[in-house]
Amino acid sequence: MRSRLPSIFHDGDVTWVRTGLGLQLRLPTRQPRQSSLRLNSRVFPNICPRSSNSEIRPIHITQARYFSASNSTYQRPNPSFHRRIPLNLPRATPPQSTTMAPIPKTMSGILIEETGGVEVLKWKTDLPVPELGEGEILVRNEFVGVNFIDTYFRTGLYKSPLPLITGKEAAGTIIAVHPSVHSTDPTLQEGVRVAYVADHAYAEITAISADRAAAIPTGLDTQTAAASLLQGLTALTFVREAAGLAQPHATGHRQLGVSEGPWALVHAAAGGTGSMLVQMLAAHGARVIGTAGGEVKCGLAKGNGAQWVVDSTREDVVARVKEITGGKGVDVIFDGVGKATFDADLEMIARRGTLAVFGNASGPVPPVDVLRLGAKNIKLMRPVLFAYIVTKEERAAYTKELFELLLAGKVKVKIHEVYPLQEVGRAHSDLEGRKTAGKLLLKV
Ligand SMILES: NC(=O)c1ccc[n+]([C@@H]2O[C@H](COP(=O)([O-])OP(=O)(O)OC[C@H]3O[C@@H](n4cnc5c(N)ncnc54)[C@H](OP(=O)(O)O)[C@@H]3O)[C@@H](O)[C@H]2O)c1
Repeated sequence: MRSRLPSIFHDGDVTWVRTGLGLQLRLPTRQPRQSSLRLNSRVFPNICPRSSNSEIRPIHITQARYFSASNSTYQRPNPSFHRRIPLNLPRATPPQSTTMAPIPKTMSGILIEETGGVEVLKWKTDLPVPELGEGEILVRNEFVGVNFIDTYFRTGLYKSPLPLITGKEAAGTIIAVHPSVHSTDPTLQEGVRVAYVADHAYAEITAISADRAAAIPTGLDTQTAAASLLQGLTALTFVREAAGLAQPHATGHRQLGVSEGPWALVHAAAGGTGSMLVQMLAAHGARVIGTAGGEVKCGLAKGNGAQWVVDSTREDVVARVKEITGGKGVDVIFDGVGKATFDADLEMIARRGTLAVFGNASGPVPPVDVLRLGAKNIKLMRPVLFAYIVTKEERAAYTKELFELLLAGKVKVKIHEVYPLQEVGRAHSDLEGRKTAGKLLLKV
């Protein structure tokens, strides 16, 4: 008679729990004692319908495989037996409560009825709660991330139909799930904490497509998840796909035309996106130069991992960069400042360099005469996060990697200030006025 008692064993770096029913589950190596799982018919309807309430601890499942259905004793995993099985597992963060408050009809939020200055960000308390469409979930936002793009929609630089609830990212708790989601992703249940990059986040409640929700893993707090998602994904996708830098542990950076340790320059290196870029570039082995406005921000950029910092409010950036690189210039530039720095970028970039202009903090770069790129064979690009995370798989893979970097402490997020949602106008003014360093959040 096969035992139903679960037991745990190790195979190399991987920890497995064997259920005693021909199934083995892989546990993460990190913090395996943080959560528990009940092996009951709800979780494993097709595996152990009668083994109710046999609790195993510790467990936090990342992968499940059949082991050997016929074998009653322990054996090392044999890849030929492995196949994927459908599981109905809770995500990393289990529901906090099974009794959710009823969904209100109206909610508070920030509405833009006409484009303009910060005065057009209107606080409303009677906005209709969005209807739940097919494939969607409702999230009660706890923290909303402020991004420079929010100012572009406010001013009308980027067009959108009005009235608009803007805001591109938030983190909070699921309060309703459309029935169609149960079959596509049963782990998205009411009470689960999620972070997302999607529209209309400046509100108490947002309806998002379920495949945009990233369950926040145990060990990551909701505030950090909200503060890191959009800018962290931007930095990660840009370092990999725009600059073409390989995984941190891989060798060679051939796409940049250099053998190793490319010179990278990040403008606004103490800003939200800049801080993430500097940390990730440094982790990828780049020699990072950061520019920042003022002494305090320069200190922060250095703390992020920039080996050299140039104070853009006092120093001649081009001359300093040439001096630091021995006259060569930098192999890759990440420029979210835009109009004010574009011409200098062309001067301080190395031959065959990659210039990634990805923002308009000082205004959009005017149309460019491509003949200017020929003298040094410069690769000019205008990367956008949203075009790198189009598919569910792309979003999931990059988000997983970002969360792992955060959980491992390899990437940190500095929060400039948490503003009440009602004070979003002050947050926009501070961001546009170069008064901030790190991430701005809104507390709902
Ligand atoms: N393409 C994408 O997918 C994508 C994604 C995320 C962000 N972005 C872009 O990345 C840039 C940074 O965004 P963020 O949200 O992380 O903001 P941020 O960097 O935290 O703040 C903007 C910083 O830009 C610098 N800056 C220089 N000149 C400026 C000017 N004239 N006006 C305002 N700021 C100026 C300031 O830093 P110093 O004082 O240190 O110079 C300021 O603190 C923005 O252009 C944004 O649109 C693009």
